[in-house]
Amino acid sequence: MTIDGKTLVVTGVASGIGAATAALLQRGGATVIGVDRNVPADFAGTFIQGDLSTPAGVAAVAERVPEGLAGLLNIAGVPGTAPWQTVLSVNVFGVRDLTRLLLPKIADGGAIVNLASNVASGWAARQLEVARFVQAADAREAIAAVADDPEVTGNSYRFSKECVRWLTQVQASENLGRVRVNSVSPGPVQTPILEDFKKDHGREKVEGAVALLGRAGQPQDIAAAIAFLLSPEAVWLNGTDLCVDGGLLAHRAVTAMATAAV
Ligand SMILES: NC(=O)c1ccc[n+]([C@@H]2O[C@H](COP(=O)([O-])OP(=O)(O)OC[C@H]3O[C@@H](n4cnc5c(N)ncnc54)[C@H](O)[C@@H]3O)[C@@H](O)[C@H]2O)c1
Repeated sequence: MTIDGKTLVVTGVASGIGAATAALLQRGGATVIGVDRNVPADFAGTFIQGDLSTPAGVAAVAERVPEGLAGLLNIAGVPGTAPWQTVLSVNVFGVRDLTRLLLPKIADGGAIVNLASNVASGWAARQLEVARFVQAADAREAIAAVADDPEVTGNSYRFSKECVRWLTQVQASENLGRVRVNSVSPGPVQTPILEDFKKDHGREKVEGAVALLGRAGQPQDIAAAIAFLLSPEAVWLNGTDLCVDGGLLAHRAVTAMATAAV
């Protein structure tokens, strides 16, 4: 898709990666319909204020979106410092349900990009649990059902992004030949959420990763990858994940192997 003249919905436009992505797409000639619970300080497109943490909030946003979209970028998200129920509601069911409601409004040849994370790289080890959670008919019941599982409640952010990895494949599979669906997995990116990640994943771990890479990722680094996934050059990329972390996961894997080999 060349984005000039196209209409795209971008969630999370009030901050960080969502704001940078909206700005990049607008510079490329796209009309952006931005969604966020917070009103952006400066936004050039149509803005819909809404709360993606409840089915009613998601439905209210979807109702205001017109037909004829070229794509949907599910970027809004909350860190693991938020209550675990909120993390699962926004990061999993907000993405799932907004996509379900907007898919009929996306024209053939459109594209969807979901924001996952490189902390979800081990998602396949929990595939069955993740798949069950993602396909639950009722979000509130699904969330209540994991309340006694500390693996989920104690790692809600990681689990939520593992769900996004699987959800992306489900959505791609259900829309083959019509709408492509991919995810992007950033490493640490310099946005307001990064401070929360330090509290959630460990300050030393996050700061050590940034020091190793020489810098944190910038929102523009992630926006560029998202824009690539919308482009004609990415036409055969579907149901896959693009890890955009400056090489962090690769380095960790090689280091772990070197340690195991001695
Ligand atoms: N920054 C990083 O290091 C990093 C790394 C990996 C993945 N991510 C993911 O990238 C995405 C964007 O993160 P960011 O770094 O730009 O964070 P951010 O905090 O700067 O932006 C997140 C945006 O989502 C919005 N949002 C949160 N809950 C919402 C709700 N209920 N309804 C509507 N809007 C809501 C916020 O208001 C905010 O504008 C998130 O999904 C995040 O999990 C970020």
